[in-house]
Amino acid sequence: MKVPSHTSTTRHLGSCYPLFNDPSLECKKVFIGKQYFGGKFTYDPFDLYSLNILTNPNIVVLGQIGRGKSSFIKTFLLREMAFGRRCLIIDPKGEYGPLLSHFGFEPIVLRPGGRHRISPIRENDNQLLYALTEIGLKRSLMPLEKSALDLAVCNAKRKSKDPNLRSIACELEDPLLNDSMPNSVSVTTLLEHSLEMSLELRRLLSSDLKGVMDSTNSLTIDYSNQIISIDLSYLQGTDSLGVGIACVLSLVEDYLSSNKITGGFFIVIDEAWAVLTNSRVANFFQMTWKLSRSYGVSNIAVIHRASDLTDQSNSSVKVGGLLSDSETKIIYAQSESEASNATKLFNLSLTEERYITQLPLGRALWKVGSRSFLVDHLLGLREAKLINTDQKMDLSISGEH
Ligand SMILES: Nc1ncnc2c1ncn2[C@@H]1O[C@H](COP(=O)(O)OP(=O)(O)OP(=O)(O)O)[C@@H](O)[C@H]1O
Ligand SMILES: [Mg+2]
Repeated sequence: MKVPSHTSTTRHLGSCYPLFNDPSLECKKVFIGKQYFGGKFTYDPFDLYSLNILTNPNIVVLGQIGRGKSSFIKTFLLREMAFGRRCLIIDPKGEYGPLLSHFGFEPIVLRPGGRHRISPIRENDNQLLYALTEIGLKRSLMPLEKSALDLAVCNAKRKSKDPNLRSIACELEDPLLNDSMPNSVSVTTLLEHSLEMSLELRRLLSSDLKGVMDSTNSLTIDYSNQIISIDLSYLQGTDSLGVGIACVLSLVEDYLSSNKITGGFFIVIDEAWAVLTNSRVANFFQMTWKLSRSYGVSNIAVIHRASDLTDQSNSSVKVGGLLSDSETKIIYAQSESEASNATKLFNLSLTEERYITQLPLGRALWKVGSRSFLVDHLLGLREAKLINTDQKMDLSISGEH
């Protein structure tokens, strides 16, 4: 069959073939790799923001397991730091150590026997405490239960400047009514509601949270370090991981709200899907996300699937918040079953939907504002040493232990 040739401009061809020959972004830093259809690819959210190409500097990185998401982030930060940018990583897998030691720093590790503790008890609200209790009870709190927790916090704060989860559990077991409770609520009624919560808190304190969240906050972060990492790997695999991440974020937010950040600051939440498993933690996460521009911060969240953002009960809140406040989406390979979700959420074209199911390791579809790029993330030889997360796999394949 002979098809008559057709000549068209690349601008017009772009309407049916969106990835066709889009020139690079206008920023000079940092080098990411090469575009699959030709040309280098550079990206820097702060430069693009100051050039009015982006209206917010936040980034969502999405992709199946082992597709190069964390490797991209590690090398991206490494390259950004050459330009004086700073970063703080919340690291639920404990895999950013080599990157930190490259710069002569150590991660802050939260584990039993360690120096640091985090606490869900905040100055102004009890949302993280509600979330932790809900995670323990595996259900939402009833209004009277929330009131019982509020009362326990209030009483614990009256007795001590720095209450902890144990003192909250004690107050739940021995409630002292105050004016905030209606007269119709008796101590016996309150106890009926608070006992289950205190038992659950005590169970968490002697298991998942032991040595990590069982005392007042003692996590001190030296923000003068160019790179900071909080290793939460002890909580990995527990339902409390999301609350742990939120506790750290809450401390960081306190710092950001009272200090002026200049020169570009990245906050990375690797394995951020964990914070989306509880709606309260997700709402908290979304609020800190929204503040990024006013703080001069670029937040980077890593999730596995588009449905991480939609499966939850209050999906509209999360999707609306995270996505509308993240103008850069970096999409690594998705399974066939996830591709249509990603298409809906990220407004992908049919061509892009087809591509994201076929992306090899290290290649991603970048959506930067309204523009799309297919990018191969290139690694330098020295960088490769900092990113290998396959070490355990390598050992088991070669039979070493
Ligand atoms: N651009 C790349 N080029 C070559 N190899 C790569 C590239 N990116 C990652 N790798 C290799 O793939 C392995 C897995 O990468 P990485 O840990 O970044 O995946 P991930 O998507 O973060 O996985 P997970 O979802 O399990 O966290 C790494 O050990 C690294 O050696
Ligand atoms: Mg990873």
